[in-house]
Amino acid sequence: MRGNFEYYNPTKLIFGENSVNKLKDELANYGTNILLVYGGGSIKKTGLYDKVMNALNEANKKVTELPGVMPNPTLEKLYEGIQVARENKIEFILAVGGGSVIDYCKGLAASINLKGEDPWKKYYLDMQEADCECVPIGSILTMVGTGSEMNGGSVITNTEQKLKIGKVFGAYNFPKFAILDPTLTYTVPRYQMVAGIFDIMSHIMEQYFSDNDDTASDYIMEGLMRGLISASRVAIKNPQDYDARSNIMWIATWALNTLVSKGKTEDWEVHMIGQAIGAVTNATHGMTLSAVSIPYYEYVMPFGLLKFKRFAEVVWGVESYRFNNDATLVAKEGLRCMSDWMKEIGLVMRISDLGVTPSNLDDVVNATFLLNGGYKKLNKDELLDILKRAM
Ligand code: NZQ
Ligand code: ZN
Repeated sequence: MRGNFEYYNPTKLIFGENSVNKLKDELANYGTNILLVYGGGSIKKTGLYDKVMNALNEANKKVTELPGVMPNPTLEKLYEGIQVARENKIEFILAVGGGSVIDYCKGLAASINLKGEDPWKKYYLDMQEADCECVPIGSILTMVGTGSEMNGGSVITNTEQKLKIGKVFGAYNFPKFAILDPTLTYTVPRYQMVAGIFDIMSHIMEQYFSDNDDTASDYIMEGLMRGLISASRVAIKNPQDYDARSNIMWIATWALNTLVSKGKTEDWEVHMIGQAIGAVTNATHGMTLSAVSIPYYEYVMPFGLLKFKRFAEVVWGVESYRFNNDATLVAKEGLRCMSDWMKEIGLVMRISDLGVTPSNLDDVVNATFLLNGGYKKLNKDELLDILKRAM
């Protein structure tokens, strides 16, 4: 394990069918004025909204609603939320939705008591920590993938500047609790479900493909990836398979709650490219990752060859003797298996299918942050080359 580290995660997980019934008890720990934040209305169609409102009423809360948080939440929407929260003297934020809603609530939580500073500049451009009191957040997760339910990630899109930036807040701004009922994810549209599955896979790969030493975190990640691949194959055939959906939900949470990054450096370049594509096209997050992953990993594979060989053998069951133990051939076979699986579950494999065109390729390059934690730091020409291969 590299370096010295501390691990602290304060989010309480309440997992399983009907776990929403525990909401009322959790609410008892917080103030009266609640901001209920949700997305475009799926929670009303599924009946979850009524259950949440009943719990809030039974707990004698005064509720202000903030609906309409869009996928890839915008800075404009954040400013709106700050005003609503201040006007209503909000003491607790209840986020009901997917990563977009929960991410948004973290940005909000850190901005309500912020005086005289702009949250976009302070948190997203300058990456500062919050030095004002953050309003506590609780979450009910309805769409699985981001891990936002148990981390400090908050990704906001500035449509004017064409930038989509993720701020990672410290444990002081993690959700206090996360209610995880796998059955709430049954209604997620198939496109979103598979995008979420690949988001999870990508989170794990971003942390797996770095370093060459022997690290317990890598063994944990191999187990998570194998579990995810297996469950995904069941879930695409039967989205209402409880075992599959509950495994996917649990794996998503552990993939990005900072546990598996411990003792490692991390890559995150695929996410930087994906966020740039998101900023330019507003495409679904998980699909922006799937569409660049194969060209990206093919490109960096020679620089981390032995890890890619191990990935092929352990995660995809590639038998090295069939390739005369040739590391390059084994590693390539691993990526081929991954590509087959991605097509099997219905992921987008080309950025041109997401709205990237030759005329906005430069915008994507300019919006991409180039990082140093993976096997190869890209320069802009290499990035452009990878993007062209992904078209
Ligand atoms: O808005 P509603 O009507 O609720 O519909 C949503 C939305 O259209 C729908 N949905 C969610 N739950 C549903 C449902 N539809 C039917 N039944 C349900 N139970 O799904 C759509 C997508 O939701 P969204 O929250 O946008 O998806 P996701 O969870 O993938 O979140 C994506 C955002 O999270 C950021 C992404 O960049 C993106 O902005 N990320 C956050 C991270 C973090 N906090 O650590 C890390 C990730 O890498 C990611 O960047
Ligand atoms: Zn992601």
